[in-house]
Amino acid sequence: MNANLEQIKQEIISGAEELNSSKEVYEFKKKFLDGKTGKIGLLMKEMKNIAPEERANYGKGVNELKEWALGYLGELDVKMKAKELQDRYESEKIDISLPAVASEQGNLHPITLIRNQLIDIFSGMGFEVFEGTEIETDYYNFTALNTPQDHPARDMQDTFYLSPEFLLRTQTSAGQIHVMENKKPPIKILSPGKVFRSDDDATHSPMFTQMEGLVVDKGITLCDLQGMLDVFVKKVYGEGTKTRLRPSYFPFTEPSVEVDCSCFECGGTGCKLCKGTGWIEILGAGVVNKKVLENCGIDSEEYSGLAFGIGIERTAMLKYGINNIKHLFESDLRVLKQLND
Ligand code: PHE
Repeated sequence: MNANLEQIKQEIISGAEELNSSKEVYEFKKKFLDGKTGKIGLLMKEMKNIAPEERANYGKGVNELKEWALGYLGELDVKMKAKELQDRYESEKIDISLPAVASEQGNLHPITLIRNQLIDIFSGMGFEVFEGTEIETDYYNFTALNTPQDHPARDMQDTFYLSPEFLLRTQTSAGQIHVMENKKPPIKILSPGKVFRSDDDATHSPMFTQMEGLVVDKGITLCDLQGMLDVFVKKVYGEGTKTRLRPSYFPFTEPSVEVDCSCFECGGTGCKLCKGTGWIEILGAGVVNKKVLENCGIDSEEYSGLAFGIGIERTAMLKYGINNIKHLFESDLRVLKQLND
């Protein structure tokens, strides 16, 4: 009998040498010590087959073996777990003196930045945002804006027609009519959005973005327009920037003006950007034509209005010194990364 116990002990000692993980130790331990199926556990069950006079001795031997195995394998388990922990420390070691891996951070597109900045500036002056639709009818885009069929001013904008009635809006001015039809003065709205014209060169794109402004109230004059635009150019191009109005023509404003601002590159002395003139053209504007007010059911004797249309790409190109409008649509990260101020 003792020989049998000794054999199991040797089996444990030599088997333990093969073990490589605490999980293997656990399985190995079960093989010997499990109460029902383990080799030592089964020895206990043998008790009933042992001659009564040998039982005490047999039981003592088995118990000793069991105690020894528990201690031996327990110790091995502790060593194995310590080794595993050490291995994990080694493999997960972080060298905090290494430079960190920089994570890429996205930013808003320059068109969105300018759009947000303009909304910010004009909402500070009490303007609300109205977003029109990109598909318009001929009536809203032209006729109601005092540009009936065969009006020569239709040639100013090469239009994408979808049908004789529907078109891709050529100007956010179409939104003016929707607003005036649905809202009684006082009106103060800002309408940003995409517009479309069949036009394509370094400074023109078939799709671009405008920001329309419309104010209708009692006693609105060109002076109010210049006052608001003064605030706008100072905020966008710098405190020292001034505005100047030049006569122009739009069918829906009378008088109509082109607005220039003093060149923010040279301060007005003349440079490449302003082509030596000291001034840069930035937008079209004017006093709302009485006919347009009447088309929308607003009494033009009681009310007057002003309107302006800002080209957002043009504003971005001037502000960031971009010489080709396509840079704003190509999503080239090398370009965009330079434009996030
Ligand atoms: N809609 C004009 C354009 O696209 C700009 C403009 C808007 C002019 C409002 C006057 C008043 O050219």
